[in-house]
Amino acid sequence: MRDNPQFYRLPHFWAMLFGDNRGMTKLLIFAGSTRQHSFNRRLAHAAAELARAAGADVTHLELSTLDIPMYNADLEAQGTPPDVIRLKDTMDAHPAWIIVSPEYNGSYTGLLKNTIDWASSPVKGHAVWGGRDPFAGKVVGLLSASNGALGGLRSLSHLNPLLQNLQCWIAPKQFALGRASEAFADDGSLKSDAHRHSAQAVVDQVLWAAARLGSK
Ligand SMILES: Cc1cc2nc3c(=O)[nH]c(=O)nc-3n(C[C@H](O)[C@H](O)[C@H](O)COP(=O)(O)O)c2cc1C
Repeated sequence: MRDNPQFYRLPHFWAMLFGDNRGMTKLLIFAGSTRQHSFNRRLAHAAAELARAAGADVTHLELSTLDIPMYNADLEAQGTPPDVIRLKDTMDAHPAWIIVSPEYNGSYTGLLKNTIDWASSPVKGHAVWGGRDPFAGKVVGLLSASNGALGGLRSLSHLNPLLQNLQCWIAPKQFALGRASEAFADDGSLKSDAHRHSAQAVVDQVLWAAARLGSK
């Protein structure tokens, strides 16, 4: 049984290694698109299903549910929007994240940058968010999807330094899904074994690293 790679995917194996830690890892997944038929939202959904099957406690956050304006320091001086606080609290409650990034003009989307900028900005006088941000120490896995051949890979090359600058631990395994319009079955799952395995490898590495680092 232990010769079967599936054995090592099962929560009980990681529970044996790390106490009950890995199976219970809280994983936050969000995509940098709010488009109704977004490939990246679909990939986030597929990754969430893979992570749940691996025993993680998954929160799939749709950025469309947050009422967050374009960042403006004058606006912020009048008071940080409540949904920014909600976002920071949600990020903080999850030691592991997977960000699924569309590619616009060879980089990540304005939506993703705006979301990260608000979440990283201190909240003056706030008991929790006055002196820190929810990024440092998080283990972050990166996925992207595009209908182009490169699958949005270049957006990930820009997201890497941004997140490192915020003191995140970036999982070395990343996956860019090309030709995304052909990649999903009607139920939202990834059609090909190769794509599923690539997404699974990112999910597994994020959960493994979060357990090893004991990230909060
Ligand atoms: C302004 C703009 C720039 C784009 N630039 C790129 C690009 O550089 N590379 C790429 O693969 N796709 C590019 N695209 C196509 C997007 O990948 C495509 O719209 C994709 O569906 C967006 O992700 P989503 O499906 O998750 O919304 C661009 C789209 C827009 C609107």
